[in-house]
Amino acid sequence: MSREEEKRLAAEAAAELVEDGMRVGLGTGSTVAFLVQALAKRRIRVEFVATSPRTADLARSLGMVIEPFDAFDQLDLAIDGADQLATDGWLIKGGGGAHTREKIVAAAAKRYVVIVDSSKIVNVLHAPVPVEIQSFGLAATLRHLDPTRRRAGDLSPDGGVIADYWGEIGNPVDLAERLSGTPGLIAHGLFAPALVTDVLVGIGKTVKRSTTGGMS
Ligand code: 5RP
Repeated sequence: MSREEEKRLAAEAAAELVEDGMRVGLGTGSTVAFLVQALAKRRIRVEFVATSPRTADLARSLGMVIEPFDAFDQLDLAIDGADQLATDGWLIKGGGGAHTREKIVAAAAKRYVVIVDSSKIVNVLHAPVPVEIQSFGLAATLRHLDPTRRRAGDLSPDGGVIADYWGEIGNPVDLAERLSGTPGLIAHGLFAPALVTDVLVGIGKTVKRSTTGGMS
């Protein structure tokens, strides 16, 4: 079974969690693209918000309505992919540069469901960790975050500079604290297990479900 098939299976399983009347956050990436396609087929009455123009454009092209995310103070559910899922439940996100919005949406959701193919499962997280940085003082912030390198040409839809931290991760709690405490850093792509309520992993022809956030 290919990775794309595993992504599709996990995404289709997650689409079944969406019910009429919900407010639902949609993540970003190729796994989420399968989710959006599955949701478009269901024709349910849902208020969706999207974490990126890419997701919003795809959803609208399939007839879904995407609401702005400024007035809802909570979402019933959010569903998103990930770049890495460690067995202790920590995630790395932001391969698509959308992690700032993705973290806001995750934190606003009563239930946050992560959908991945089996290649995303790792014993220990490894670099890179995506970061979004204010352009004001960019060189100084990059010096504090060394070794962090700017991604060619990438700006977030909110105008932040997308870069990647390439150093050792070690204890993700400590790195998350260091990154968050660096002036000029808007958001990093380390997502703590406490954010995650469900994980759906496409493995071969099946979907493995976990409600703890971790995979052990
Ligand atoms: C975007 C993300 C994506 O969820 C992550 O990069 C996984 O993408 P894909 O589903 O294409 O493998 O964090 O910022």
